[in-house]
Amino acid sequence: MTTNSLKDKVCLITGATSGIGLETAIALANMGATVIVGGRDLERASNAVIKIRTASNNPNVDFLLADLSDFVEVKRFAEEFKQQYKRLDVLVNNAGAIFKEYDENPQGVEMTMALNLFSIYLLTGSLLDVLQHSAPSRIINVSSMVHKLGKNEFDGFNDESSYKALNSYALSKLGLLHFNTILSEKLQGTGITSNAMHPGWVKSNFGSGFYTGFYGFLDTIFKPVQISSQKGAETIVYLASSPDVEQISGKYFVKNKAIPSSSASYNTSSSDYVWELCRQQTGFQYNFQEKPVDMGKKVEDSKDAKTKKTDDDKPSDI
Ligand SMILES: NC(=O)c1ccc[n+]([C@@H]2O[C@H](COP(=O)([O-])OP(=O)(O)OC[C@H]3O[C@@H](n4cnc5c(N)ncnc54)[C@H](OP(=O)(O)O)[C@@H]3O)[C@@H](O)[C@H]2O)c1
Repeated sequence: MTTNSLKDKVCLITGATSGIGLETAIALANMGATVIVGGRDLERASNAVIKIRTASNNPNVDFLLADLSDFVEVKRFAEEFKQQYKRLDVLVNNAGAIFKEYDENPQGVEMTMALNLFSIYLLTGSLLDVLQHSAPSRIINVSSMVHKLGKNEFDGFNDESSYKALNSYALSKLGLLHFNTILSEKLQGTGITSNAMHPGWVKSNFGSGFYTGFYGFLDTIFKPVQISSQKGAETIVYLASSPDVEQISGKYFVKNKAIPSSSASYNTSSSDYVWELCRQQTGFQYNFQEKPVDMGKKVEDSKDAKTKKTDDDKPSDI
């Protein structure tokens, strides 16, 4: 584990109440950073702050609360952050989940994609001004090796009748790699980097509602080969702090090394498609010169297929 100093740096880690996020927070606090825990439950977030302060002997640890699957909450969370902190040096988009059954967020968007992809687009975009002001700054997107199961079939993501938890999770993590690619391109020359990573197969609270039946059996069998959350956090900590990666952007890291992700993740028209889908779903436009993307008829069809909201359906304040 690197021992780079993060004194005077401000790091926001979503999903830092348990597992990989919590261990990342402890490691970054150990390096002297001011750490903000993104949590959604007051008790779990307060407990995490106590754990991080105790483990690191660093008092500069606090929390902000939001259910990050709800786009209105995401926007409020970002605004509260900017009211309380003048800089943001490292944003770790770590919060994520797999949902056994189909569910929707308050905006009518399928939960896996809402939490694991669209909210990250929205949160990152809402914090871009403070990241820019703090540059050089870093964005780390926690993806998964499971993205390799994903196909570039994003137009049916909100279709309840064909919902499969693992497919949706894989799609969201593939989508996150597309997001990372486009974001890093748009950020060229700004001093802000964006990289994605896979933490390894980690023993955490992840999938607690999902690992039943066959998947529960597999989880039990493979428990001995799963790594600790602390080990799983190592690549995030490396990306957050190492001078080696100061200039690196748009890559996918495993075990502190940039490696190729799936061939599907390099499909440039899919990357453009995902970016536009994120914009449509959240109603949030980044402050870049956007080139128009032809979403084709497929997206129009999927709007009819299920409850996917149009821009007009979005809350006007986000
Ligand atoms: N575990 C693995 O093997 C593995 C492998 C590859 C990738 N990943 C990725 O690693 C990341 C962290 O997972 P983990 O293994 O550390 O799992 P975890 O222990 O379940 O932690 C997930 C974190 O996300 C938060 N979260 C979940 N839903 C949220 C919501 N709606 N709003 C705000 N926060 C929410 C949780 O908060 P609460 O405490 O409130 O539930 C928790 O802090 C995820 O993105 C996951 O996809 C994990």
